[in-house]
Amino acid sequence: MDYLRITGPSQLEGEITVSGAKNAALPLIAATLLSDEPCTIENIPEVADIHTLLKLFDKLGSKFIFEDHTLNIDNEAIDNTTATYDIVKTMRASILVLGPLLSRFGHCEVSLPGGCAIGQRPIDLHLKALELMGATIEIKNGYIVATAPAGLNGAHIIFDKVTVTGSENIIMAAALAKGKTELINVAKEPEVVQLCEVLYDSGVDIEGIGTDELIIHGTDREPLKLNSFSIIPDRIEAGTYLCAAAITYGTITLNNIIADHLDAVTAKLHEAGCRIETRNDSMTLYPAAKLKSFEISTTEYPGFPTDMQAQFMALATQAEGVSIIEERLFENRFMHVSELQRLGASIHLKGHTATLNGPIQLLGAEVMATDLRASSALVLAGLAAKGVTNIHRIYHLDRGYEVLHEKLKKLGAKIERLKE
Ligand code: UD1
Repeated sequence: MDYLRITGPSQLEGEITVSGAKNAALPLIAATLLSDEPCTIENIPEVADIHTLLKLFDKLGSKFIFEDHTLNIDNEAIDNTTATYDIVKTMRASILVLGPLLSRFGHCEVSLPGGCAIGQRPIDLHLKALELMGATIEIKNGYIVATAPAGLNGAHIIFDKVTVTGSENIIMAAALAKGKTELINVAKEPEVVQLCEVLYDSGVDIEGIGTDELIIHGTDREPLKLNSFSIIPDRIEAGTYLCAAAITYGTITLNNIIADHLDAVTAKLHEAGCRIETRNDSMTLYPAAKLKSFEISTTEYPGFPTDMQAQFMALATQAEGVSIIEERLFENRFMHVSELQRLGASIHLKGHTATLNGPIQLLGAEVMATDLRASSALVLAGLAAKGVTNIHRIYHLDRGYEVLHEKLKKLGAKIERLKE
């Protein structure tokens, strides 16, 4: 197993290119199941979660070549509609094959994802919506067994909560359903919007793209012809590097970004005292004279993303005054708190709210990565800490950050990837 050794403190300087968004690529690869013709997707990040999904596609009978960030995929010969436990347990987002497999083939079996480090994460809303579309859902031997032999029907669906992958699953299911599906309280994350745009460009009539109410006119099981497209930049990766610059009082430029997608993040960095300049598809962060404390409450897009909460907690350890961070989406997304405390952070946790006092001179220590974004918070803290920080279990980071240590090295960090 690999670990990261960071010797800090460092001051990042330079320029890097942001990779394609993992959370856009996953549903869009799943969407290729709606087609029986070859399709090309560009700018896919080479991260572990993508390889996990492709392993699942291989088992389904999909034919593909993935090289140089480009996926050429042909799902004409799919001969298996079961997503097995061994894959789903390593990546919950495997649930994204449920909607497209069911709508194209009329049946599928997908392992229930089970527990998760950041909270309970049920999928009841995905299942309830599919039932409203006429599917029969049973739970057997740990698997969701979904059937709709005559295909899915359009329906009027109100999501009780905003769910990202839930919205994506049902949008894909509705694309091949019979008739009109009305979706209310749909997630508006840029990754959901790109999914809608790609389906629209492929001939699916979708009204309301970018809003929380969609009307989707299904093709009645006529497979789609997906035109080639390129994955949008990863706003969470970009936000993580912006925090890395801010916490080290460095100046960095990010290429390949969509600034609008980062509004909630850049607004908080601005509050913390940083200055950000945007030009077309690039962005430069200039450091604060002295980082100031801030308050954050995570919520759905366009609000502050839960996927940036841990990184801002690392930043708050270096900000002058009391910062307050409230996590409203996931009940247990504070696993990084005790690891940041091992580096010396002053954090008081009560319920869903963390209160931090800063700035604190962090000191390097051995720490353990617990989930994807928690791990990146430890990297940021390690960059600011004095001495050596060893971060173990970095397979969590590999799930969603492409060559993180190489990008940070390019920015001047003293970081090595070593074997345990
Ligand atoms: C997606 C993202 C993840 C991000 C999260 C919130 C992907 C692959 N993952 O996860 O990085 O942190 O959105 O922005 O895109 N819920 C239910 N029932 C359901 C579904 C969700 O109660 O059927 C609850 C969840 O427990 C959570 C909230 O709704 O409290 C939001 O979860 P959701 O948007 O579904 O997260 P994911 O799609 O799993």
